[in-house]
Amino acid sequence: MIAENDVARLRGDFPILGRAVHGKRLAYLDNAATTQTPRVVIDAISRYYAEDNANVHRGVHLLSERATAAYEGARSKVKELLNASDAREIVFVRGATEAINLVAQTYGRTHLRAGDEIVITAMEHHSNIVPWQMLCEQTGAVLRVIPITDSGELVPDEYERLLGERTRLVSIAHVSNVLGTINPVAEIIARAHARGVPVMVDGAQAVAHINVDVRALDADFYVFSGHKAYGPTGIGVLYGKAQRLEAMPPYQGGGDMIRSVTFERTEYGSFPGRFEAGTPHIAGAVGLAAAIDYVMAIGLERIATYERELLAFATDRLSPIPGVRLLGAPRCKTAILSFVLDGVHPHDLGTILDQQGVAIRTGHHCAQPLMHRLGVEVAARASLAFYNTTADIDSLIAGLGCAREVFA
Ligand SMILES: Cc1ncc(COP(=O)(O)O)c(C=O)c1O
Repeated sequence: MIAENDVARLRGDFPILGRAVHGKRLAYLDNAATTQTPRVVIDAISRYYAEDNANVHRGVHLLSERATAAYEGARSKVKELLNASDAREIVFVRGATEAINLVAQTYGRTHLRAGDEIVITAMEHHSNIVPWQMLCEQTGAVLRVIPITDSGELVPDEYERLLGERTRLVSIAHVSNVLGTINPVAEIIARAHARGVPVMVDGAQAVAHINVDVRALDADFYVFSGHKAYGPTGIGVLYGKAQRLEAMPPYQGGGDMIRSVTFERTEYGSFPGRFEAGTPHIAGAVGLAAAIDYVMAIGLERIATYERELLAFATDRLSPIPGVRLLGAPRCKTAILSFVLDGVHPHDLGTILDQQGVAIRTGHHCAQPLMHRLGVEVAARASLAFYNTTADIDSLIAGLGCAREVFA
């Protein structure tokens, strides 16, 4: 468990948390959108540009060698975080969105035919819906959706029913960005594998909050974004089992992904390079590695325990407020609280809270089908990280009080 005085020290690692917003202390509660960046990550990026900057995999000069070592070192660091078997199973991409599109357009285009089925859930982010719809348009495949209960959990029997002869891929969120639901992915994967169906897991909301072990889960693909895990924007990860990546055609063509090129024909290189055409986001990978070091030094178990306690505190404070309705109540969840406040539009609420220095997210959270299922169009969302404190929650509650007064 992270103690209160540890949190005070850890907050000091994040320069932005010390700034004021509209003259007020910042209560940053929008961590599911983007987490803040610790000084060690900012320093690692600027040190890279100040001391090692060059292109990777190409030069024989010292800087290129150092840049390549840093970039490949970052790959090994991600391997460690996810407990993958081999660093070659880690493909660097721009983020979770690009990783899902990559799998849809390579694995999906190769393996899916008209009438084949892709199974997703009713709680997916648009980035785990739209790429599959695009693939369906291209191939004639069909999207099937596992429904959820009112409390925001998957209906297991419905999943079993949806798995059929034509299922070719299951793609599910590890953690819902709206409900915080932690889905039973190990069980979902085991059931799919029993039928020979591969599973892709969208871990965008998981990796910074719970321990992820792709080998224990037996995931075929696992994706996440650096900027939701204390790293920089513009860098993300696609993990793929070696035998899956081996059998996939490239995503984009260009430099660094080939073995040989003539005007007649190109022979593609091996993975992961085959999926990383062009100059990659080297500084982003370096920053991500520093973020992983930072998070691993604190410990994901400790982070999860602390965030769970803060979630319980926030839930206890939020639920009794008249007019507040929390969306979903899954038994197993991370520290995400989506809610509506009677008589106050979430956008107005967000604006009033901003004036108090409280940053939350309002809108459809890129999960319109889920919002529809929950019977709302938009909602407010407070999402917590290990650097949040009960003082942040107090600011949120006080801000809600202001909003109720304004709109009373
Ligand atoms: C569950 C989930 N999947 C995917 C994404 C997309 O992440 P990115 O925009 O970093 O690609 C998000 C972003 O909010 C998310 O919450």
